[in-house]
Amino acid sequence: MEKFVIRGDKPLQGEIRVNGAKNSALKILAAALLTDDDCRISNVPQIEDIFRLLELLEDIGVKVKNGSRGEYLLNARGIKKSSLSPSIAQKLKGSILMTAPLLARYGRADFPQPGGCVIGQRPRDIFIDGFKAFGASVRETAKGYSLSAKKITGTKFVFPLVSVTATETMILLAVLAKGKTNLVNAACEPEIIALADFLNKMGAKIKGAGTPFMEIEGISHLAGGECEIMPDRIEGGSFAVLGAAANSPIKITGINPGHLEVLWFLLAKAGANFELGKDFVKIKPSQGLKAVGLKTHEYPGFPTDLQAPFVVLMTQASGLSLIHETIFEGRLFYADVLNQMGAKIIMCDPHRVVVQGPAKLSGRHLISPDIRAGIAMVIAALIAKGESVIENIYQIDRGYERIEERLQKLGADIKRINS
Ligand code: EPZ
Repeated sequence: MEKFVIRGDKPLQGEIRVNGAKNSALKILAAALLTDDDCRISNVPQIEDIFRLLELLEDIGVKVKNGSRGEYLLNARGIKKSSLSPSIAQKLKGSILMTAPLLARYGRADFPQPGGCVIGQRPRDIFIDGFKAFGASVRETAKGYSLSAKKITGTKFVFPLVSVTATETMILLAVLAKGKTNLVNAACEPEIIALADFLNKMGAKIKGAGTPFMEIEGISHLAGGECEIMPDRIEGGSFAVLGAAANSPIKITGINPGHLEVLWFLLAKAGANFELGKDFVKIKPSQGLKAVGLKTHEYPGFPTDLQAPFVVLMTQASGLSLIHETIFEGRLFYADVLNQMGAKIIMCDPHRVVVQGPAKLSGRHLISPDIRAGIAMVIAALIAKGESVIENIYQIDRGYERIEERLQKLGADIKRINS
């Protein structure tokens, strides 16, 4: 198994460019199933989750041609089955996104029980209710779910709580449904706007993307299209937090700063020193950080995917920070690992921790539980004294492309080794 070996407390400086957004690319690639025409998708991050989705698409018969780096030409004309391979789908929560286009076009889709996940239960009840609302029947077996529908009919669907991929799944169903669909309490993430923009370029009739109220007029046929994947706001935020935590002059380029307003607000409130440009943020050394509290929230609130990196930052700030993770019930357990490194974090309940800073961190043997806690451990190891070893780095490779090479260019002493 591969692991990272990191020698921390090295001065960092330089420029790092964000890649295409994982949480946009997965949906845009799935949308290619909605048409028999070619779809050309570029700026796709070369990360494990994308490779798993491409394997799933090819497994059902989608033709996938590699263009230049990060560019793919997809064609779904030759689909030969509508059941997702369990061995691959279980590695990728986002694979459920493929079910909607398969159901919409072929009237059938089978997907496995979503495997366990360290950040939370990841229930699928809203998806099941949504499939039924559009006229599908759902049979649950020990292995997973079997969906079938003679016809997908537009409907009014109210989300009981905001769900990003459930919103995207219902959009992918509604675009080819018979009649009109209204979505209420839809997620408003920028990745949803990007999906709607791509589908509208293919001929869909979607209004209200990025707002809680969406209206979709179903049509009978979608043409192919082209899409350049939007910048990864979570990569950008993760690198900005690294710069602030390492108190190092790092410039993060290729971002859309408008996607991270609450992060900039909290970094400024904490006393971080940075300059925002049209498509970059330049982190500069500061006179020390003050503790600030945060509550994760659906977009445009503070993203849950930046919560773990921000907690590492707060271990370096003076004072007490209350961190409230409102979205997932299992997304704070990495705090114990940071405490082993010397942090002072008290877990109040599965949704809240109090961080007391500043604390000197020392290198330790770490295991990455999920993508975002994984990058938080990399950040902690980079600012800690001494050497850290991080295991299970597949989790980090799921969301951050060639992260060690890109961090080495900033002066980080990080190596990928095969144990
Ligand atoms: C998406 O996950 C992202 N993944 C997550 O990023 C992100 O953390 C999350 O949205 C929140 O922003 C992708 O886009 C591929 P949700 P998703 O449905 O859609 C509950 C990363 O690290 N819920 O918005 O699966 C759920 O338990 C990943 O890149 C139900 O109760 O998250 C959670 O409490 C991690 N029933 C809340 O909704 C359902 O049927 C929000 O989750 C579905 C969800």
